Amino acid sequence: MIKEFPEDFIWGTSASSYQIEGAHLKDGRGPCIWDTFSQIPGKIENGDTGNIAADHYHRYKEDVAMLAKIGIKHYNLSVSWSRVQPLGRGEINPKGIQFYSDLIDELIKNDITPWIHLYHWDIPTALQLETDGFLNPDIADYFADYAEICFKNFGDRVKHWSTFNEPWVNSILCYGKGVMAPGRTSNTEPYIVGHNILRAHGKAVDVYRRKYQKKQKGVIGIINNCDWREPFSDSQEDKDAAQRALEFFLGWFADPIFLGDYPEIMKKNIGDRLPKFTEEDIKLIKGSSDFFGLNHYSTSLAENADLTKEYEINVYDNGGLFKDERVVLHADPSWKKTEMGWNVVPWGLRKLLNWVDKRYNHPEIFVTENGIATPDKVVNGAVDDQERIDYLNGYISEAHNAIQDGVDLKGYFVWSFIDNFEWALGYSKRFGLHYVDFKTGERIPKKSAHWLKKVMQNNGV
Ligand code: GAL
Repeated sequence: MIKEFPEDFIWGTSASSYQIEGAHLKDGRGPCIWDTFSQIPGKIENGDTGNIAADHYHRYKEDVAMLAKIGIKHYNLSVSWSRVQPLGRGEINPKGIQFYSDLIDELIKNDITPWIHLYHWDIPTALQLETDGFLNPDIADYFADYAEICFKNFGDRVKHWSTFNEPWVNSILCYGKGVMAPGRTSNTEPYIVGHNILRAHGKAVDVYRRKYQKKQKGVIGIINNCDWREPFSDSQEDKDAAQRALEFFLGWFADPIFLGDYPEIMKKNIGDRLPKFTEEDIKLIKGSSDFFGLNHYSTSLAENADLTKEYEINVYDNGGLFKDERVVLHADPSWKKTEMGWNVVPWGLRKLLNWVDKRYNHPEIFVTENGIATPDKVVNGAVDDQERIDYLNGYISEAHNAIQDGVDLKGYFVWSFIDNFEWALGYSKRFGLHYVDFKTGERIPKKSAHWLKKVMQNNGV
């Protein structure tokens, strides 16, 4: 039996600039912090860089044709700030504008609606070095200026905007645990960075709403990520731990936007290290998302941590800073794991969607990323990635269940349409619906691409 989605349900795929474009210094692009970070020995698996990546910059027409061929109608891409504004402020790079303009035209010509997110962790290196990037409150103005360049140049054709992708990663993994560019470790900086991201988001949205939204008739929001947290046991401590984990992960960024301030538990546990919003900040931030963008990959069991004990913490484990969040994560031994070591738990998506629905008063939600890394191999010119199909099938089914529960889920995007540079793990992990031979640039649609085409045709699984 087909689980059919509402008629106007949106199916799409996502990708990000640094992960696919390559052409890192071509046509006037300035370096971003991932160009710089990937030059440091030991930071990226196999010493990989995004210098060439999937070479999408040169092959975008082929890629758009490939998307069209499997029936994709919506594509969420990110703009490289340093391609548009090489130093992160001041001068605009006309060739950078031209590239995105051409890409947008090509998508529209192929009946694919472009969705754009403005920031996917790739701040221009110059801005980082000269101003300390997201540690400096002035970032809000620089970001709003950059966002306006995009609204002005692309907003006649782009009607779906997001400011930031996954502020949590940009704060915790980039400034707390140091595994992502710029590679800093601190128990204070993540909160400053997160705070400035929210302020930058608020300012950019304000510019859009005041100067462009009426004329251009688009929507604007933000994309957060969150995994589900299930209590480790029936004890009240573990139930509270699971709730706390969700508030530290998603509430951190979604509460100020949808409810007007940080979660109480964060204020209590973090104390003075958590910055406070001014009235002016909150005026811009509260209500600044026209929809709820949500990236989701996995689920863990949450146990209340005893701070007097030593725990082994995986640096990639999604969550807050341990001493502030006070949660230990576990996996149920029966759960399958992906190549990333992430637990495959489709029902976690349903629970998370219901949690978001309830906490944020029934917002319109888009799952803007969901997907899996699998050990794909080309055999006789084809890639049999049944594991990806099973994963997507499970998660899409649970998304359908969430709609039956009454959640206002409006769309679902697969990460990603193509294999790409998986950050600190380089090219060792493949998330694509299309296989990329990184030596030749050749693309091969995987079995999952053909499968997804049918899902979209049937509007269900
Ligand atoms: C997301 C991120 C993507 C991609 C994906 C798989 O968190 O936005 O850039 O890397 O995870 O790890």
